[in-house]
Amino acid sequence: MPKDTLTITDNRTGKSYEIPIQNGTIRALDLRQIKMSQEDFGLMTYDPAFTNTAACKSAITYIDGDKGILNYRGYPIEQLAEKSNYLEVAYLILNGELPTRSQHEDWVHQITTHTLLHENIKKFMEGFWHDAHPMGMLVSTVGALSTFYPDAKEITNPESRRWQSVRLIAKMPTLAAFAYRYSIGRPYAYPDNELSYTGNFLNMMFKLTELKYRPTPVLERALDVLFILHADHEQNCSTSAMRGVGSSQVDPYSAVAAATAALYGPLHGGANEMVIRMLREIGSLARVPEFIKRVKAGERRLMGFGHRVYKNYDPRARIIKEMADQVFVEMGKNSLLEIALELEKIALEDEYFVSRKLYPNVDFYSGLIYQSMGFPLDLFPSLFAIPRTAGWMAQWEEMLRDPETKIARPRQIYLGSPPRNYVPIAERETPGRKAAGI
Ligand code: ACO
Repeated sequence: MPKDTLTITDNRTGKSYEIPIQNGTIRALDLRQIKMSQEDFGLMTYDPAFTNTAACKSAITYIDGDKGILNYRGYPIEQLAEKSNYLEVAYLILNGELPTRSQHEDWVHQITTHTLLHENIKKFMEGFWHDAHPMGMLVSTVGALSTFYPDAKEITNPESRRWQSVRLIAKMPTLAAFAYRYSIGRPYAYPDNELSYTGNFLNMMFKLTELKYRPTPVLERALDVLFILHADHEQNCSTSAMRGVGSSQVDPYSAVAAATAALYGPLHGGANEMVIRMLREIGSLARVPEFIKRVKAGERRLMGFGHRVYKNYDPRARIIKEMADQVFVEMGKNSLLEIALELEKIALEDEYFVSRKLYPNVDFYSGLIYQSMGFPLDLFPSLFAIPRTAGWMAQWEEMLRDPETKIARPRQIYLGSPPRNYVPIAERETPGRKAAGI
């Protein structure tokens, strides 16, 4: 029995239970011994949205929401954003250590030489309506990749798992860029192996008729930093989807499709797009107070504000704000910036936001940068999905290696009807039902 225990006394029976505390948690299963009656199944915890339940042990990402700390494998995000690059960070997240020079070279080579898609993927793309949202296309096409790589089903083979990580990290930018090119009717731009990961992505997005696309260094670096900031974020909604779906032992392409779908939602990775739509809707500085009023009345959400874990500030938002200045110098000021700054200023002073600890999150400024860089609005969530693929794959790998992993299967509190007998259809239209509008 560990030294730290929690004593629970059942007032009905007077019985006491010693529940071990480990890593600041108790095991929910230890509560099962507390029963309401002899036949009772045992006490469960009720935690909708898992706001206070650890679903796994992890060694990948550490967040202290009160202090605004974010570390990948122990390295502070500020240092990684300043000194590292996205592919190095992806390697760190997946493997636990920064790569040596030769490991880095091999890794970059592997990613760079796996960016091409099977040509049939383009045919899938062509089946979409011309204004299909790129995130819908990404969810479908990344899931479809599982049919091109049946070896991905070998999830107990570490070498096979490693290759799927390489393929996914390499191909997500190509899928996202092709979805965009299709939507605007431009020919697909194929990957250029001489460019960096983000330089090549810009090439696939924006290359026109020039023989060689040369990315603007400030934009290439800004995108790289944004990718570092989005690489992982422990057990958020999409990562939980990755782990939950992956726990059924499906192939990783199908699990990444599920994670991408979770990321698409406006409360998660879709928020960066919704921030710009909100700023456009507000339209002018004069209309900011009116909008804030509607948010406080519960009619609207201030998109890009608030976070389940960060209750002080989001360290990623701070880095992004600095990055935004560099991008605006290169590309000119974003016309929506003034409105964003005014919203932020009012919200940070207002009792409603202060008392609820609502601060700008990573999405509040990333959208403004993406827009200034020339990315179309509906591509923003894909710009989140590309770098998060490294995090999803690292979390998936960790889950598969964990001997405690079982298929994810939460419990429920059943509040429905007690057992009753089937009623033939002719006997269902009773006056009582009619009166109740059923
Ligand atoms: N605008 C206005 N009020 C808000 C906001 C917001 N953005 N976020 C939270 N609140 C309010 C809630 O209404 C609630 O108020 P109440 O106590 O009076 O009912 C209180 O603050 C607590 O909010 P919850 O919804 O309980 O917080 P939760 O942790 O469940 O939600 C979330 C976190 C989803 C991020 C929420 O803050 C939100 O919807 N933000 C806007 C969308 C957004 O920016 N999402 C991106 C998150 S970052 C990411 O995924 C990368």
